Amino acid sequence: MKIAVLRETKPNETRVAASPETVKKFVGLGVEVAVEAGAGEAASMPDAAYKDAGATIAKDAKSAAKGAALALKVLGPTEAEIAALPRGCAIVSIVAPHANGDLLNAAAKAGIDLFAMDLMPRITRAQSMDVLSSQSNLAGYKAVIDAAAYIGSAMPMMMTAAGTIAPAKVFVMGAGVAGLQAIATARRLGAVVSATDVRFAAKEQVESLGATFVVVDEAAMKEAETEGGYAKEMSQDFQTRQAEFVAEHIKKQDIVVTTALIPGRPAPRLVSEEMVRSMRKGSVIVDLAAEQGGNVALTRPGETVDVDGVSIIGHRNVPGRLAADASALYARNVFNFVSTFFDKDSGTFPTDWDDDIVKAIALVRAGAIIHPQFAGEPATAAPEAETGAEPEDQAPAESNGETDNA
Ligand code: NAI
Repeated sequence: MKIAVLRETKPNETRVAASPETVKKFVGLGVEVAVEAGAGEAASMPDAAYKDAGATIAKDAKSAAKGAALALKVLGPTEAEIAALPRGCAIVSIVAPHANGDLLNAAAKAGIDLFAMDLMPRITRAQSMDVLSSQSNLAGYKAVIDAAAYIGSAMPMMMTAAGTIAPAKVFVMGAGVAGLQAIATARRLGAVVSATDVRFAAKEQVESLGATFVVVDEAAMKEAETEGGYAKEMSQDFQTRQAEFVAEHIKKQDIVVTTALIPGRPAPRLVSEEMVRSMRKGSVIVDLAAEQGGNVALTRPGETVDVDGVSIIGHRNVPGRLAADASALYARNVFNFVSTFFDKDSGTFPTDWDDDIVKAIALVRAGAIIHPQFAGEPATAAPEAETGAEPEDQAPAESNGETDNA
């Protein structure tokens, strides 16, 4: 069996779907691995390292994929990338199928089997394959490092001969995987941290990291978690009360990190323009939900904007800003999935289409969209990431010229 590791073609995507470490493991399983030249370059994984691990280096996607039963990518394939794959080949990547209906149809039409790592179920058996966790964890860390680099004051309390510097106040909104790592990172840097979430279960986790947890409505928060552990959309009443609290709390913060997401829905708007303008000059907001519509009014995906002295950082692809680690972890998630459902003697993949993990992430098989959530859906154009801001919200914000694609 042959596996192709393809180079990412979207601007701003620095990650790669296999590392020299996972290539070595695949080769150890008896798999032939072809890596497209330069695939790992932006993640500091040079062609020579893949070669040493036992891969061959192919000059382009088409030659890497020639005769391959499986292709590995970070982002879902474009139509041109699908066209480079041989019919019958499977591809494993992060598909974001809610926004990419066209891709499902294109894969079905081309006879390519499509697997979405981002649909990995949150069950114990699949923990080592959970890309949302591995990537969100790094994003939460990097959000605080980005904020610390931007802010004009120190994070820890410092007692010096010239006087005492107060510790930075950091407020984290959304205490899932990214939020908890943001809290842990800010605490390590010596900040005073508070956090909020709609799920009451997050309280204990936040407090165990040495941060204070803000409860808006205990009864509603106890009902806010789905069976899968995700948040539900909250009532208008809850949102109003949460906003009242945030409006008061945010004025006193130096750094705000927002991470709130609801699967399949636009990111909830948690910070209004008025709240942003109420913050002290020099404070920083990092909106990790920028690409999903933004938690903050005035966020511009891919840019850092200045609103009356308050910086709003809205990087796209935050895990990609730590490309080496993000790739190493993503590559292990992919290896753990593929090697679990791969028969080295027959070269079959996946070995069991009825397994709960395979069923949860298989979107297209043999020319048909098979996932119950997406089967039969008309093709939808992949929307551009929304800015999340009303046009009038955006007008006064000034970009400081920093963009991710610069
Ligand atoms: P996510 O990325 O979907 O959302 C981030 C956070 O935003 C969540 O904690 C969510 O409750 C919160 N949120 C949503 N709307 C909000 C609002 N209006 N205000 C404030 N916060 C809001 O979630 P993520 O990080 O993927 O984790 C969700 C849960 O899954 C967590 O409890 C996590 O511990 C759990 N989990 C379980 C795993 C497993 O069992 N294998 C693996 C990874 C995570």
